[in-house]
Amino acid sequence: MADPTVMVLNGPNLNMLGKREPAIYGATTLADVERMLADAAKPLGLAVDCRQSNHEGELVTWCQQARETHAGLIINAGAYTHTSLALRDAVTAAELPLIEVHLSNIYARESFRHHSYLSPIAAGVICGLGVQGYVLALQAMAEIVKAHVA
Ligand code: DQA
Repeated sequence: MADPTVMVLNGPNLNMLGKREPAIYGATTLADVERMLADAAKPLGLAVDCRQSNHEGELVTWCQQARETHAGLIINAGAYTHTSLALRDAVTAAELPLIEVHLSNIYARESFRHHSYLSPIAAGVICGLGVQGYVLALQAMAEIVKAHVA
């Protein structure tokens, strides 16, 4: 049987990783992150399907589609974290475990970053650990997926 696939979604401006505010978000590019995740997935018995969009509706559509085909969602929704009820509804509708990731510690930053629409529906949240947070999220997701199929 094929390994269960986890959808990893990155939202707006995360295509700029490595160039964008490196003091906050680091020098690693999104392509590097996606390679790290593909390498980390294999020994965990998972596959990853990594996507990035600057468009809220596209992220919504991908969450809806994941319901039928994927085992879990790892999402760094960027600024949509703090604004998008539509994305939250799409994740709820997907009925898949969610792990929310942020590179920066959103609680140590401006107050408008302290609220997340996704956190209340997430199995867990990882923030402030940079790109390593995505790998930690994948490791946690492997346990969650295993528990679901057991
Ligand atoms: C972010 C934090 C958000 O507040 C911000 O809008 C981002 C990136 C992070 O990964 O730290 O785009 O999600």
